[in-house]
Amino acid sequence: MNMHNLSQRPVGVLGATGYTGLEVLRVLREHDGVRVRFATSEGRAGEEACLPGVTLVSADEAPLGEVDLVFLCLPHGEAAGWARRALASGVRVVDLTADHRPGSGREDGAVYGMADLEGPDVREARLVANPGCYATGVELALHPLLKGGLLDEGRTVVVSAASGVTGAGRTPKRDLLFAEVAGDFRAYATGNGHRHLLEMRAGLPGLDLLFQPHLLPVSRGILETIYAPVREDVDATAVRAAWREAYGGADTIRVMDGVPALRDVVGTDLLALGAVDNAGLGTPVVTVVAALDNLGKGAAGQAVQNMNLMLGFEPARGLRWRV
Ligand SMILES: NC(=O)c1ccc[n+]([C@@H]2O[C@H](COP(=O)([O-])OP(=O)(O)OC[C@H]3O[C@@H](n4cnc5c(N)ncnc54)[C@H](OP(=O)(O)O)[C@@H]3O)[C@@H](O)[C@H]2O)c1
Repeated sequence: MNMHNLSQRPVGVLGATGYTGLEVLRVLREHDGVRVRFATSEGRAGEEACLPGVTLVSADEAPLGEVDLVFLCLPHGEAAGWARRALASGVRVVDLTADHRPGSGREDGAVYGMADLEGPDVREARLVANPGCYATGVELALHPLLKGGLLDEGRTVVVSAASGVTGAGRTPKRDLLFAEVAGDFRAYATGNGHRHLLEMRAGLPGLDLLFQPHLLPVSRGILETIYAPVREDVDATAVRAAWREAYGGADTIRVMDGVPALRDVVGTDLLALGAVDNAGLGTPVVTVVAALDNLGKGAAGQAVQNMNLMLGFEPARGLRWRV
């Protein structure tokens, strides 16, 4: 429980009534190192936020200068202006939108916050671009394999991914009505054009990536099946060893002996990874399965992990790793 005391660092949440903003509040409620000084909504200002004692205010009324750090949980395009205002007030920023990610054209001055790959950059950053939900699973799964030379880089890495419906945000859309989604399963952003490819390519330089997302009729969770072309001498055991070497000490990534399912991660801030070999192929491919909660590790979990690094807390403080 977030008991208020003076040693807690004040933080704010812009866009606190959307799916990611609500999830940031849920994580912060259990984080004993910070207290939420303000939470914003344009449509519901004056109502109580989902935190006791916090009343929603419009973003224009938020006392930006009274916090150490602000989370931007806003629609795309709305975050850049608020980031400028916060930085001008001396406030550090974790931006959950795509506004400052690689490929946005506004990445200068922002640090891409893939927290489990962090160097000293995130700790010192004024502005962190929190990675996209799909990109988090793909980059964390493949980065150690690319760095360790396990991939056959001449071949294409194919990613077939599926996300629950909260991935599309809380604004009503006809395509996302219950009657449209329930009992259905569909591909979208076909043709290798999903916007997360920009950051994936920047995070995995040189890899030829084919990324196909699908809409899964569940409320939350992402499962990504990655067909990783590997060198002749590489198998699933070597892939798991590379992950364990890269992430062995992290509380936020679980390397499994089998393959993960959504039930292993929904409601947590964990990324779960599994790898299996494939029989009967002329050239070896290891199937990698990455599972994460789009609102947890894919958004609020990683955002709070970045905040922890920026404010000098232990990286996984306050995060949830059990359902
Ligand atoms: N959903 C995911 O799984 C996910 C994962 C990673 C990253 N993201 C990114 O995170 C961002 C937020 O996503 P979301 O799913 O939480 O969106 P959302 O559910 O649509 O929530 C948007 C929030 O922004 C507020 N808002 C809307 N227009 C605003 C404006 N003009 N000025 C200030 N506040 C405004 C809304 O408040 P009111 O409606 O109450 O006024 C609401 O609190 C997006 O950029 C998204 O791409 C989403």
